[in-house]
Amino acid sequence: MSQARIESMMDEKRLFEPPMEGRNSARVTSMEEYEALYRRSMDDNEGFWAERANELVEWFTPFTKVLDADMETPSIKWFVGGQLNVAYNCLDKHIANGRRNKAAIIWQGEPDEDVKVYTYQMLYDEVCKFANVLKAQGVHKGDRVALYMPMIPELAIAMLACVRIGAVHSIVFAGFSAVSLQNRIQDCEAKVVVTSDAVIRAGRSIPLKKNVDEALRLCPSVHKVVVVNRANAAVEWQEGRDLWWHELMKAPDLKASCPCEPMDSEDPLFILYTSGSTGKPKGVVHTTGGYLTYAAHTTQWVFDVKDSDVYWCTADVGWITGHSYIVYGPLALGATSLMFEGVPSYPGPDRFWQVVEKFRVNIFYTAPTVIRALMREGAEWTQKHDLSSLRVLGSVGEPINPEAWMWYHENIGGGKLPIVDTWWQTETGGIMISALPYATPLKPGSATRPLPGVDARIVRPDGTDAEPNEGGHLVIRRPWPGMLRGVFGDPARYKSTYFERFPGCYEAGDGARVDSDGYFWIMGRLDDVINVSGHRMGTAEIESALVSHPAVAEAAVVGMPHAIKGEAIYAYVTLNADADETEELRAELRTWVRKEIGPIASPEVLQFADGLPKTRSGKIMRRILRKIAGGSTSTSDFGDTSTLADPGVISDLIEGKMDLTGR
Ligand code: WT7
Repeated sequence: MSQARIESMMDEKRLFEPPMEGRNSARVTSMEEYEALYRRSMDDNEGFWAERANELVEWFTPFTKVLDADMETPSIKWFVGGQLNVAYNCLDKHIANGRRNKAAIIWQGEPDEDVKVYTYQMLYDEVCKFANVLKAQGVHKGDRVALYMPMIPELAIAMLACVRIGAVHSIVFAGFSAVSLQNRIQDCEAKVVVTSDAVIRAGRSIPLKKNVDEALRLCPSVHKVVVVNRANAAVEWQEGRDLWWHELMKAPDLKASCPCEPMDSEDPLFILYTSGSTGKPKGVVHTTGGYLTYAAHTTQWVFDVKDSDVYWCTADVGWITGHSYIVYGPLALGATSLMFEGVPSYPGPDRFWQVVEKFRVNIFYTAPTVIRALMREGAEWTQKHDLSSLRVLGSVGEPINPEAWMWYHENIGGGKLPIVDTWWQTETGGIMISALPYATPLKPGSATRPLPGVDARIVRPDGTDAEPNEGGHLVIRRPWPGMLRGVFGDPARYKSTYFERFPGCYEAGDGARVDSDGYFWIMGRLDDVINVSGHRMGTAEIESALVSHPAVAEAAVVGMPHAIKGEAIYAYVTLNADADETEELRAELRTWVRKEIGPIASPEVLQFADGLPKTRSGKIMRRILRKIAGGSTSTSDFGDTSTLADPGVISDLIEGKMDLTGR
C-alpha cells in the first residue's frame, strides 16, 4: 500500500470495522455490548470483578470481600480471604477438566528441528518434579528464586514450580548483564538461581552461566544454582553450589506429584524489576489472586482465545508480557501457548511467518519494533508462507505508528484481521487499554478504549480532567485486580512513584490524549525513561553506568527517534582531563554499558562533549540535549535558553554532533 494512501486514510480518520467472520462466537461482539459491559463495570465494579474471578479461577477457599482498597495510602487488597494456587489453576484444574492430553506449551527451539510439545499432563509432571527439587534444596513458601534463563520450557516449568510451593520468582531477562543480575539478586535476596549453560541466539551459543558465576561473587543469599544444559557449552563448576537440572530431575525417588501450597489471595506471586526515572530498578511485586484473575481475564477478552487455538506471543518471558501472555494468562485458560526460542531475523526474515505456518497459529502478539524491522525486509518474505490460520493480531510495547499498523494489517492480516494495540505496563500486570477484536472499530495508532473495569483518565498537571484531545497525564482512577502491590523492600518508593502526585489515582508516567470518540492516543513517557524497542530503560541508570568508568567525568543520556527501535539511546559524555576523546574509548564505553547493564542499554550514539547545558544552579537541561540528539541545529529550536550558565555550549554540542553523525 502506498504512503499516499496511508496518509489519506489518516486524513479521512477512517475506521477499520471489526470483522463479521467469527463475530458470533466471540466473547464481546459489538460496541454496544462493550459499552454496556463498561458501564456495568463502573456502576458495579466489585460485582463485575467478583464474577470474573469466580468464572476464571478455582479457589480453594472463596473470597469473602471483593476489594479492600485505599489508593491514597496506598493499600490494595483484592479477593480478600480467598485462597488459591496459581499452578493449580494453570495445570491441575485442566487435567481434571478433560484437557490432560491437550498441548499446553508448544516449544519451538531456534533450530527448526528442536520442537517439544508439553501436554497439560506432561507439564504437570515436570512442574511437580521441579517443585520437589526446589523443596529438597531448602526453598520454602515466601522464599525468592531468581530465574535467569533463555526461552526454554524449563523456564515455564521453574516458574510454575515456584508458585506451586509458594516461592516467589524473580525473572531476570537473560540479555541483562552479570552486574544487573547481581543487583536484582541482592535486592530480593534470592536463595536459589536457575540458569542455563548458554543461550542459543541467531545460530550462536552465548555463555550465560558465566554471568551467574560473576554475579554470585557478591550474593551471599544464594546457596544453590540449578543449571539447564541447553547448548552443551563448557561451564565452570562450583561443587556443592552448582547442580545440573537433568541430574536433579532424574533422581530415582523424585515424585511427579507435589501438593499445591494454598496461597492467600494477597500473597506475593512474583517480583519483576523494571527501570524508573531515578535510582536502581524497582522490584514490582504482583500478588496471587488479583494477578491471576487479571491475566486470565485479559487473555480471554483481548485475544478471544478459543479452546482449539494456537496462541503465540513473541515476547521473552523475562519481560512482563511473557509472564502474563505466554505463561499465566494462556495456561490459566487451558489454552495452547507457543513458546519460541529464536529471533525474527534468523535464519531469514521470514522466520516468524514460517513458524506461524508450521503450527497454524491463530493469534499472534508482537511488538511494533519487530513489525518495523520486518517491514524493511519487504513483503515478499510474508508471501512465502500460508498465514491463513491467523485470526487476531496484537501489538504491545510502544505506540504502533500508522505505517507499521497498515503494513501489519495488509501483509500479515490480509487486509482484514483486527489488530489489538494493547497499552499496559509491568506495573499493571495485564492489558489496560485495548480494542476487543470483534467489537471495537480500529484507528491505526490508537490503543482505542479502556477495557471494562479500567477507569483510565487524562488529567492536567493540577489533577483536573483534561478536555477531549488535550494532552495530559494518563492515570487510573480506581484499583484493578492486576495492579502492582508494592516495590520490593521500598514502600516509600511505591507510594511516591505511583500514588502521590495525583491523590486517589495510579499515575502511569505516560502522556496521552483522548479524542472525541473516547479513543486513547498514547504519546510516550513523561519521565526520564526511554522506550527502546518496547523495553523501558532509565536514563539515570545508563548515566551512572557511564560515570562509573574511570575516564568519565559526567554523562547525560536522552532518547532520540529511531526508525526501527522507536527510540534509541543517545549519550553525551564529558571526560576527565587526563582522558582522550578517541574512537577506542568510545567503543570501550559502549562495551562498558553493555557489561554494566546489558546490550539493550548500549548507546546508539555516544558524543564526547566538553560541557553540558546546565542552568546556573547546575541542573542539566535535557530538553536541549533531546533536541540536539533529534537533529535540531537552529538556535530557534531550543526555546528559552536564558537560564543557561554558558549559552556557548549549545553550538559546541551541535558542531560535535555534526562531526559525529554528519547531520
Ligand atoms: C511502557 C511500559 C506492557 C508490556 C511491555 C512494556 C509503553 C506499552 C504500549 C502501547 C503505547 C505503550 C508505555 C508504558 N507502552 N504498550 N500499546 N502503546 N505505549 O512494559 O517495560 O513496563 O513499559 O511501555 O510507555 O508506560 P514496560
